[in-house]
Amino acid sequence: MARVGYQDMTKNRVSAEDRQRLIDAAQAAAKNAYAPYSQFKVGAALLTGKGEIFAGCNVENASYGMTNCAERTAVFSAIAHSGPKLEIRAIAVINANDAPCAPCGACRQVIYEFGPEAIIFFPTAQGWKEAPLPELLPEGFRLK
Ligand code: THU
Repeated sequence: MARVGYQDMTKNRVSAEDRQRLIDAAQAAAKNAYAPYSQFKVGAALLTGKGEIFAGCNVENASYGMTNCAERTAVFSAIAHSGPKLEIRAIAVINANDAPCAPCGACRQVIYEFGPEAIIFFPTAQGWKEAPLPELLPEGFRLK
């Protein structure tokens, strides 16, 4: 029997409808971003194992390093609303500048904690990209 590749298994898990729900929610969240320093408003939305969607935006700070990215805001919001048993199936990232925007390394690690196999949707110069997290973050850190 042909071995089903990892990517094949995960790619089928998010329907076109859920993908659109994620993009719509991320777009709406980007409008709420607080980005007076970079003028780069980002929105993210994640799909949980229960089919819920939680969104977040970036929140900047005058002490730049305190800035929270949209993806992490979405993860923290999901836990604040639904509890710590979060399972991230997919997450979409978008920005109001229509610019390419892959999740930063720190956010990849935070997503990994709750969705090591999550599908990530993000805009690139070539259009939307869909990638499983292990492709974007090989060897994510786990404390065992
Ligand atoms: N930003 C995000 O929200 N997500 C990312 O994955 C990359 C960067 C935000 C942080 C900062 O407010 C602005 O984009 C510019 O770096």
